[in-house]
Amino acid sequence: MGKNKLARFAENLTFEHVLQPTFDQLVNEGLAQRGRWNELLFRREAPLVLELGCGGGEYTVGLARMNPARNYLGVDIKGARLWRGARMAKEEGLTNVGFLRTHVDHLLKCFGPQEVDEIWLTFSDPQLGKPRKRLTSPLFLVRYKEVLKPGGVVHLKTDSPELFEYTLEMIAEHKLPTFEQSANVYADLVKRVSPEEQAVLNIRTYYESMWLEEGRTIHYVRFGVL
Ligand SMILES: C[S@@+](CC[C@H](N)C(=O)[O-])C[C@H]1O[C@@H](n2cnc3c(N)ncnc32)[C@H](O)[C@@H]1O
Repeated sequence: MGKNKLARFAENLTFEHVLQPTFDQLVNEGLAQRGRWNELLFRREAPLVLELGCGGGEYTVGLARMNPARNYLGVDIKGARLWRGARMAKEEGLTNVGFLRTHVDHLLKCFGPQEVDEIWLTFSDPQLGKPRKRLTSPLFLVRYKEVLKPGGVVHLKTDSPELFEYTLEMIAEHKLPTFEQSANVYADLVKRVSPEEQAVLNIRTYYESMWLEEGRTIHYVRFGVL
């Protein structure tokens, strides 16, 4: 393993805003923060927003900068990636940002019923050969429904036409409400939304920047899970 990665793992252990539960803690003991993220990590009551598969946490940190009255938690399995966001948040003194290193499959072990206000899925792996593993598969939609508050929303931003189309099919099949939808965020959506929404959509993650340089089109849909 590279020295850089080891240094990041070591620094993650020193961050109070980074949680790295063990399998035993999740499955046998139960995570203390489950249902109590606002109280135990953020130490204040505020809407809780998740970014699943956050990578370097660009959305988590970007949204947290724009919305100090909300709490943001980035979730990823790769500690060396989420270290970037954790470091950035610490350097900027952002107290409304946290990171959770875990597998997204453990969502229900990490969050209590109706604990979450919004979920962001940013450039999630399209899992072309394994639809069940997609973060908008029925398996995940059921989990989102459990952790989201009534009226809670899911945002999907992706370069993958397959994941975008698949998500629209799942929305239609499950008769879910769609609040916003665009097959081309920068040619279409940013031109017809408020300046605040434009700023949100203009946050660029590491992967998005790469795909834009390659000339790929970015898709977005915001929907509810009822
Ligand atoms: C294509 S990257 C996108 C990262 C970031 N959202 C961005 O846009 O730059 C997908 C991310 O999802 C994470 N990921 C994939 N499967 C995961 C899982 N089952 N649990 C947690 N994280 C996962 C990967 O580690 C990776 O950081």
